[in-house]
Amino acid sequence: MCGIIGYSGRQNPIPILIDGLKKLEYRGYDSAGVAIFSGGDIKRLRVKGKISLLEEKIKQLQLDGSCGLGHTRWATHGVPSEENAHPHRSCGNQIVLVHNGIIENYHLLKERLLAEGHQFESETDSEVIAHLVEKYYAGCLEEAVSRAVQELEGAFAIAVISRDEPGKIVVAKLGPPAVVGFGDGENIVASDVNPLLSYTNKVAFLEDREIAILTPNEIRFTDFTGKPIEKRIEILTWSPLMIEKRGFKHFMLKEIFEQPQVIRETMEGRIKLDKAQVLLDETGLSLSSLKRIKRLVMVACGTSFHAGLLGKYYVETLARIPVEVVYASEYRYHEVIPDGETLAVFISQSGETADTLASLRQVKKLGLSSLAICNVAQSSIARESDGVFYTHAGPEIGVAATKTFSAQLTALFLLAVGLAQLQNNQEERLNLIQAFRKIPWQVEALLGQKEMIDALSARFLHTEHFLYLGRWVNYPIALEGALKLKEISYIHAEAYPGGEMKHGPIALIDEKMPTMAICPQDKVYEKMLSNIMEVKARQGVVIALATQGDESIKKKVDQVIYLPSTHPLLFPFLSLVPLQLFAYCLAARRGADVDQPRNLAKSVTVE
Ligand code: AGP
Repeated sequence: MCGIIGYSGRQNPIPILIDGLKKLEYRGYDSAGVAIFSGGDIKRLRVKGKISLLEEKIKQLQLDGSCGLGHTRWATHGVPSEENAHPHRSCGNQIVLVHNGIIENYHLLKERLLAEGHQFESETDSEVIAHLVEKYYAGCLEEAVSRAVQELEGAFAIAVISRDEPGKIVVAKLGPPAVVGFGDGENIVASDVNPLLSYTNKVAFLEDREIAILTPNEIRFTDFTGKPIEKRIEILTWSPLMIEKRGFKHFMLKEIFEQPQVIRETMEGRIKLDKAQVLLDETGLSLSSLKRIKRLVMVACGTSFHAGLLGKYYVETLARIPVEVVYASEYRYHEVIPDGETLAVFISQSGETADTLASLRQVKKLGLSSLAICNVAQSSIARESDGVFYTHAGPEIGVAATKTFSAQLTALFLLAVGLAQLQNNQEERLNLIQAFRKIPWQVEALLGQKEMIDALSARFLHTEHFLYLGRWVNYPIALEGALKLKEISYIHAEAYPGGEMKHGPIALIDEKMPTMAICPQDKVYEKMLSNIMEVKARQGVVIALATQGDESIKKKVDQVIYLPSTHPLLFPFLSLVPLQLFAYCLAARRGADVDQPRNLAKSVTVE
């Protein structure tokens, strides 16, 4: 998705804007640009391609000034090009802005503005906003923005400057996120907190239909009508260091290696080990309301959806509560029947995914209680849910979700244990929690297999297709492993429940179609072995993820990746690690842009 940034203060904004855009790169983009006040006018520089090209272009100009905007564009309307790159401007360069989102009524607005004599220079929806603000501009930027945004339909987070008001940035939000940072004699706005961390830990998250007016010494807030409002200042706990690579080649690899700590920190202070108790008080949902829950529906996208599939097994097994797991993009078309006993759980690491947010807003209208499982404090989904159970993964920069997935599984496991104790379902909770305490160390041990997995991945450098198989709690991990391979190496990969092979997928098997089979010694071990034999009988190459000590499987497959023994319900925490590493190593060997895969964005804030 697009990234916006704005700075107003006592420093030259260019290095701050460029540094901030680099911290937004992970959101995915195809072009970039900046605009700053300089020499009594607004100077604009834009490129198609990476921020490094923009830096080269900037070096050729002597740009000074103390206020400016920056943008990374992920094309929605109009091809990736310099003309379509942001910042966009009005006719006389009077108004300049950056925009994240989609203006759904831009055609109508553009026709009207063209008829009124405005000259357009791009194919984008965003440019319409600049001309609309110009139309209403009469010397006060926030008033003009306030009038303009009331005519917009769709989603937008915009930052706007006017040539006549140097140093002022006006921000307006409806849908995509915008957060402002309070500095000392300088203030900053961005799409998320990462660009702010180097300048301040005091921030305020804009809600929908809010406007922020930034100058070097002040940030004021109003609603879309211009009525002043008060905003709470949040203190960030993330540090700038957390968003650096720290010696790893890619953020994704660093984040895979952070998983043991992330599991520990997400568990921290939430389990009373002696009593096998999990504390759900912090969710904000009363224990009495949680006790009344008779059904859960888990709503998410992508990797978070896979976490929900595993969460289903945890809640149904431990708390004996039925769970439905639905893609957020599909859930919006379900006939949701409010029954007062359903808890809707929205799983989203970014807390900004448009489909998940739209589903949350739909259930709120129907009166269902909602719980968010999010990684970003004060994100839209976290703020708008009745309760929130935060994961503590820290900022995840790689587009491919890894540590936030482990953190989601941890949160869902804890939720299941917490619900079980409310239902007085004592069954096997204690030994499960004891086993869970070892997971971070076992994951740590697994990370030591990276070199072996890297060597294994070399065998598949030119593979075009991969099949991932798992059964029971390992089927969601097969799905996640396939998604990882797809999204960062661009190799086609499909996941199936092992039992589905006979119903079609086995037709795919030949010597060119390798299979990754998750086959621990659990209750479906024998059945998974049968699947493996069926694949081998058709010349398929099989890599098996097996339980340490299972010597017999060696003779049946081409390669074994051994994992430590644990409670069968917890094996997914371990099996996901080699699958993440395999996808990472193969993608890196193929020279793919691992942290920013093509066409992908870290947070899909548009539908
Ligand atoms: C996973 O690697 C992808 N980045 C993507 O599928 C992601 O999980 C999905 O877009 C959901 O994002 P969210 O957790 O921020 O809602």
